[in-house]
Amino acid sequence: MDAALVTSSIEDIEIQLLLEALYQHYHYDFRHYARASIKRRLLQARAQLGYGSISEIQAAVLRDSTLLPRLLDFLTVQVSEMFRDPSYFRALREKVIPHLHTYPSLKVWVAGCSNGEELYSLAILFHEEGLAKKTMFYATDINPTALKAAQAGVYSLDRIRLFTENHQASGGRSSLSDYYTANYGRAVFDKSLCSQVVFSDHSLVTDAAFAEMHLISCRNVLIYFDRELQDRAVGLFRDSLARRGFLGLGSKESLRFSSHADAFADFVREEKIYQRTGP
Ligand SMILES: C[S@@+](CC[C@H](N)C(=O)[O-])C[C@H]1O[C@@H](n2cnc3c(N)ncnc32)[C@H](O)[C@@H]1O
Repeated sequence: MDAALVTSSIEDIEIQLLLEALYQHYHYDFRHYARASIKRRLLQARAQLGYGSISEIQAAVLRDSTLLPRLLDFLTVQVSEMFRDPSYFRALREKVIPHLHTYPSLKVWVAGCSNGEELYSLAILFHEEGLAKKTMFYATDINPTALKAAQAGVYSLDRIRLFTENHQASGGRSSLSDYYTANYGRAVFDKSLCSQVVFSDHSLVTDAAFAEMHLISCRNVLIYFDRELQDRAVGLFRDSLARRGFLGLGSKESLRFSSHADAFADFVREEKIYQRTGP
């Protein structure tokens, strides 16, 4: 028998068992994430945390909950930046915001907000467009370390140049420096940007819908899910959106294969911004 095949299939069994253990003991459900990238990240965790096998990680994390946040950092990808893909924010600004002006109050859900870069981008954009006062933001993620960082709103000054370029490219009407204070190599974003933000731990895999959102922005999250899970998340977005509410997925994701596609119409096709239409 081919030894490499045997090795890889044992690893696959161990991964399956670890994911089951995480679900049963901690209710974190990674069982339907795209398996190849989960495997790659667990192998990194094994090497960097110094374990001999995935089963050893399983035994350790079941008995020691302090290992869980470190494992979550491997299992969830935290890459983000402010005004990432500026054309997406420009499309929101030019095409979606005029519709949002017609509502007396607004609810915006940033699903999978990571360290908060996307949330602050939207908060600044809504401020610049005169919508901040009537908007409630909901920023959610499953990674507690990321949520804490989002709440703190502190980023390395090294990243500010990129954030500033993105902000300008998104059609920014002010200077990004109006929104942060530089302090010992860090940019501390203005707390007032978060005065109407609810941060919460929410999983698109296991948790329920929110009510009557006018805009949901969920970018670079569904790519980590398998088809079945993507469908669940899109169903959750449909149930959470007000009629005529908007869903922004960003250029890398689409509703094309979703069984809920009929509930949405293309709004800005290139940026994968949809409007809820049907039932
Ligand atoms: C690559 S980041 C995307 C950050 C931001 N949306 C952006 O596009 O810049 C993916 C985020 O999805 C979060 N995530 C992964 N699984 C999730 C789930 N089941 N429910 C909610 N968020 C999840 C991760 O913790 C991570 O913060």
